[in-house]
Amino acid sequence: MTSKALDTFLNDNLADLKANGLYNVIDPVQGANGPVIKISGKELINLSSNNYLGLATDERLKNAAKEAVDTHGAGAGAVRTINGTLDLHIELEKKLAEFKGTEAVISYQSGFNCNMAAISAVMDKHDAILSDELNHASIIDGCRLSKAKIIRYGHSDMNDLRQKAKEAVESGLYNKIMVITDGVFSMDGDVAKLPEIVEIAEEFDLITYVDDAHGSGVLGKGAGTVKHFGLQDRVDFQMGTLSKAIGVIGGYVAGKANLIDWLKVRSRPFLFSTAVSPADAAASKRAVEILMESTELHDKLWDNGNYLKAGLKKLGFNIGNSETPITPCIIGEEKAAQEFSKRLFENGVYAKSIVFPTVPKGTGRVRNMPTAAHTKEMLDEAISVYEKVGKEMGLI
Ligand SMILES: Cc1ncc(COP(=O)(O)O)c(C=O)c1O
Repeated sequence: MTSKALDTFLNDNLADLKANGLYNVIDPVQGANGPVIKISGKELINLSSNNYLGLATDERLKNAAKEAVDTHGAGAGAVRTINGTLDLHIELEKKLAEFKGTEAVISYQSGFNCNMAAISAVMDKHDAILSDELNHASIIDGCRLSKAKIIRYGHSDMNDLRQKAKEAVESGLYNKIMVITDGVFSMDGDVAKLPEIVEIAEEFDLITYVDDAHGSGVLGKGAGTVKHFGLQDRVDFQMGTLSKAIGVIGGYVAGKANLIDWLKVRSRPFLFSTAVSPADAAASKRAVEILMESTELHDKLWDNGNYLKAGLKKLGFNIGNSETPITPCIIGEEKAAQEFSKRLFENGVYAKSIVFPTVPKGTGRVRNMPTAAHTKEMLDEAISVYEKVGKEMGLI
């Protein structure tokens, strides 16, 4: 007999989420996650992927992946520290270090797992971490895992950060103190104030950690937020993902050689979880090469992002304060955001609603991620659907 207590817990909580419009229904995509997708047999303009540069479906990446399967097989076969480190992983890490302008890089199986791995390899219960209140869940979980004291500062509030850094240092309670932030905040598209963060870090000798999941491929001509601000020599951890602009799967930390050497011996997912597949490593490396060869995709992404933002703003939608192609359309009430997304779907646009706990309560939104792979015609079509649904629901 299975547990009655578990059944009660699950059934009560699921019913509660559904009643409050907080239950997320997952739609399987039938085919590739490109600018147009098929869900439940219906073709839709896709404004919900993180495939910023369209590389997830790029022929050059597909060919690199196929070749790697032929030469290296389907799986890496072991964790990195036993014999799962293939030449393809090393080549990827070298290429990423060149791209990021750092001494070395270590790669992981995902961005999420990279944050879990890297934070807890360096920080412990004798330390403190100053964390932006809107940091991504993987940062929060990585910080919790480390057992360091977590001190949240107001979102991008540099006075609060300085004050809390000063208090933490003066308390004398901590061996090391880290400041950690998203480079680009994915729900709003705003950029961390890295120059100020680095200044405060240097004043108080803080370790700096930037999660650039949404900045890599997008800012700094593709090399990320740290490069965008010219701070490559002043940030300790440049974390990134291979799953968003790069179009594949994986995560990495770029930094000084001694940091990467330490992570290779002390970050647990590197030691105890099998490496990404040959196809993943080869396709990711090809993507980085493409970004280093030309800014064409990056430029197209920005062009499309600006176009969509201007179109939605002109219609009267609240698109927040995004500084990047990420284009939120803030509706407010959770159920209204879900209804808006549902009606967009019925009219041929896939823009998923995002509600609490991913964003604060009362700021439910539909988030649009234009990519380099969208055409102007697709974006025009999406804008006209937004206009129709927005008017029908009395939002504009
Ligand atoms: C800021 C941030 N960090 C880390 C991650 C996790 O990356 P991945 O999807 O590669 O695990 C995400 C993904 O949503 C993210 O937005």
